[in-house]
Amino acid sequence: MLGSGKGSNFVAIADAIAAGKVPAEVALVSSDVESAGILEHARKRNLPVRFIPPGKFRTKLDEDAERAYVSALQEAKVDLIVLAGFMRVLKGDFLRAFEGRIVNIHPSLLPSFPGLEAWKQALDHGVKVTGCTVHFVDAGVDCGAIIGQQTVPVLDDDTPETLHSRIHAAEHELYPKCVAAIARGDVSVRGRRVVWKIGCGV
Ligand code: GRF
Repeated sequence: MLGSGKGSNFVAIADAIAAGKVPAEVALVSSDVESAGILEHARKRNLPVRFIPPGKFRTKLDEDAERAYVSALQEAKVDLIVLAGFMRVLKGDFLRAFEGRIVNIHPSLLPSFPGLEAWKQALDHGVKVTGCTVHFVDAGVDCGAIIGQQTVPVLDDDTPETLHSRIHAAEHELYPKCVAAIARGDVSVRGRRVVWKIGCGV
């Protein structure tokens, strides 16, 4: 798993694995932020952890960093890369090394509100329903094939904080289910459409 922040999605997935709901193991937890909560949570669970500095850019990995991430993940023999709040856009060599094997979660119903602070974009736009989306990662930002979505109502008295926390809670339900489905081989990709085995959808 890769993340830059507090790691609540990591916790949800690690707990679901421990509870036997996701047939997977965490081979490596890595971050571009040395003090990230996700690393702390992983250490507490005695999982392999690596801080890998991102290099000289602000929103992507530089070439050396990209190589370091790819080798760390290959050495750990990962089958699937699960991004949760990893604040770097992944590019060419990284995507090629793990084509079709990287997933991400975004705090809106994509394709609405890609990019930063999606919950705030939803409030500003005045939508009545928003949610979260788990999707495969491709070369675009927040635009790969959609694996699963969960809706969240927007309430009249919502603030960015209350809406964000309701979306976060939905993420913690949706993400483990999607990772479990991939691990079980219950989803297949047909162009932009991700098809779930009958009876296995979220
Ligand atoms: C989540 O809201 C996710 O949608 C976004 O980054 C956040 C990560 O949260 N991509 P956490 O670090 O898992 O708590």
